[in-house]
Amino acid sequence: MHTPTEERIIRPANNIYGSLRLPGDKSISHRYGMLAAFAEGTSRFTNFSTGADCASTLACMEALGAKVRRLEDGSVEVVGVGGRVTPPQSPSAQPLDCGNSGSTMRMISGLLEPQEGRFTLVGDESLSRRPMERIRKPLEAMGARLTLTEGHAPLLIEGGPLWAINYTTPVPSAQVKTCILLAGLQTAGTTTVREAVRTRDHSELALRAFGANVERSLDSVSIAGPQKLRAIEADVPGDISSAAFFLCAAALFPGSSLVLDALGLNPTRAALLDVLTALGARISVLNLEEKNAELVGTVQVTAPPESLGSTEISGALAAQLIDELPALAAIGPFTSGGIRIRDARELRVKESDRIALVVRNLRAMGAEVEEFEDGLDVPGGQTLHGATIDSGGDHRIAMAFSVAALRAEGETRIQGAESAAISFPEFFDLLDLVAER
Ligand code: S3P
Repeated sequence: MHTPTEERIIRPANNIYGSLRLPGDKSISHRYGMLAAFAEGTSRFTNFSTGADCASTLACMEALGAKVRRLEDGSVEVVGVGGRVTPPQSPSAQPLDCGNSGSTMRMISGLLEPQEGRFTLVGDESLSRRPMERIRKPLEAMGARLTLTEGHAPLLIEGGPLWAINYTTPVPSAQVKTCILLAGLQTAGTTTVREAVRTRDHSELALRAFGANVERSLDSVSIAGPQKLRAIEADVPGDISSAAFFLCAAALFPGSSLVLDALGLNPTRAALLDVLTALGARISVLNLEEKNAELVGTVQVTAPPESLGSTEISGALAAQLIDELPALAAIGPFTSGGIRIRDARELRVKESDRIALVVRNLRAMGAEVEEFEDGLDVPGGQTLHGATIDSGGDHRIAMAFSVAALRAEGETRIQGAESAAISFPEFFDLLDLVAER
């Protein structure tokens, strides 16, 4: 069980107003950190994610021989190992600690399998419960030796040369796709990953930015190995999954106006903007530009004069919005027609069982909600009261219910508020900045 160490009190707000630039995207920062550490040369990143998850990636890469420096201006400098990592040597060497980060564990596994040496990967209690079979299958098909502990971490990798494969992912997962591509990058022949639902494509774009040749079609991505990577300099776009909490909050208050600068708007990540628009929020995008093939822009959101409408999220949309679903579910009671979520079974194997925790916490606030194996129905037109929220040590649950608390009657106590730092340490300070009371 996660032991919460910090409780935050969230008071209701009257409005959301202001302009913010959010810290760098977590998904992109993981990839830039990992690829820079693997590449030849020195990379530099501004607006790198400040979250603990990306720090886990950097720490693992340092343990594998890369040099990482945080400069005074806040930027991150990474000196890469030039394609060959140094396995931790002695039998007593510390295992690679992936902390709470599924992205770190699943993606680094693909990077390490083709390398010479033995590597042990561990994670915290939550990560040690998450499914790892999904990476073992494709990696073993490539000839890799990977031992799991009853389907979970700790992971033992006995690295060595692999062969290329053509693999169709059974569950949509950018982490699994990336794991295979990072193994394929170092493997002779063409490795192809096919996916029925297109997942976030940051790895494909990042690999190209680091100089790799990656071929794409509508439903597949291929990499012919082995290829070398070269260092880059990049400014990481603001994290749209962190922005989701602020966009949802702003959408709740008629008269709100929130501007988010330099926000990542990669089309495989930006479905939330469509959903909020369909709910009635007014969203405009300005200053759209491309940085290292990632779309970046300024987003302005204002709430409709009446309350938000209703929406159903299912099928491919549920997969694309997977990280934003807790925030959307948490504002469901304040819509007029409710929010229905289906085909989101994956939510049950994230940092927590997010369906169960969203349902439990909405009920704690007095909401009516129906739970399904693969989603939930949150009827609209409800009034919530402040309550004690159990975040379960899950950053997105802590932040989603901080948003619901802004429109509840009375104070809400968020237990385990420290978990926000997994992806977004600045969350509560920035929320205070834009929440008018
Ligand atoms: C991520 C992919 C998604 C997402 C996670 C980050 C990534 O997970 O939920 O927060 O950076 O590739 P899956 O790959 O398990 O779908």
